[in-house]
Amino acid sequence: MFQLDKLIRDNIKTLKAYSSARDEFSGEASVFLDANENSLGSPLKKWYNRYPDPHQQAVKKALSLIKGIAPEHIFLGNGSDECIDLLYRCFCEPGKDNAIICPPTYGMYEVSANINNIALKRAPLLPDFQLNLAHLETLIDENTKLIWLCSPNNPTGNSLNRADIEMVLNHFDGIVVIDEAYINFAKQNSFIQDLVDYPNLVVLQTFSKAWGLAGLRLGMAFASKEILAVMDKVKPPYNINQVTQELALKAMEELGQVKDMIRILVDMREALVGVFESMPTVEKVYPSDANFILVKIAEARKIYEFLLTKGIVVRDRSSVQLCEDCLRITIGTEQENTDLVDAMQDWYASQTIPE
Ligand SMILES: Cc1ncc(COP(=O)(O)O)c(C=O)c1O
Repeated sequence: MFQLDKLIRDNIKTLKAYSSARDEFSGEASVFLDANENSLGSPLKKWYNRYPDPHQQAVKKALSLIKGIAPEHIFLGNGSDECIDLLYRCFCEPGKDNAIICPPTYGMYEVSANINNIALKRAPLLPDFQLNLAHLETLIDENTKLIWLCSPNNPTGNSLNRADIEMVLNHFDGIVVIDEAYINFAKQNSFIQDLVDYPNLVVLQTFSKAWGLAGLRLGMAFASKEILAVMDKVKPPYNINQVTQELALKAMEELGQVKDMIRILVDMREALVGVFESMPTVEKVYPSDANFILVKIAEARKIYEFLLTKGIVVRDRSSVQLCEDCLRITIGTEQENTDLVDAMQDWYASQTIPE
């Protein structure tokens, strides 16, 4: 049975969270002499001399309308990378607890585990990049606190089967994190609406992909109030800066534009899949539910280097297990995609031996 109390690290259970000036006073006032800010202003805009709302209430309220979930179920991080790190720090005892990843997958689950001295177990995906449930099950022990599932997965691009994810959610007593960084490009529905059924579920999303705001650093975690209360206690008080909060609010007024971009990117993805599938040395273009494609192609490393000479950077994943000879290619603008395809034609031309 899932018991959150058993998962929280002892030192976090007893931790008394920092109480910021903005926590201790919340009401109407006109003279703020409580936070050692610069009362004169700043070289920029006067507004920025003040600390931001530590609870990001306005952003959460706007987001709750878009996501169809109450603000109490939303946590905001400095990128979802901060949420990943916080989940380890809240629930995994360094040197004792462990977490499970399903490689090939997003690299920060491993880096964050290493930073926090958390042992990592691996249940590699099957050749079709779906979960190996039988293997996963054998890895779980009494110290397993987190299972990381990335859907759609980076770098493979596919969504994990919903029934498999549900199986993990139903049978694991620790926390299951579903990283949905690329969900807006997928045919599958988000698991956000399933939070009511699963007290052990944390869903991660981000403003870095479909929203086009990677530079702002704004990630989201959706979970039960109880899980988020632990994360709130551990996060730095002002982890989302004022500029990010303001710009995120502005961006959320333009939801239509974001939906248009998603549609265009998905269309261009499908077109690019077709073009790559017709290339002579392409072994496979993996089906993608994300804003990138994974292409298995002969001499991937050489092509990567050739593209660099043309000023085009793709991600060489050929040294990653199960991604041998694979390049991960982000969908660009129409012009960038054309430039990429032209460069690939130049590559093939350079390979023909003159008679
Ligand atoms: C699966 C996945 N999760 C999380 C992130 C990081 O997102 P953020 O920019 O919100 O830290 C990435 C970035 O590439 C990603 O691929």
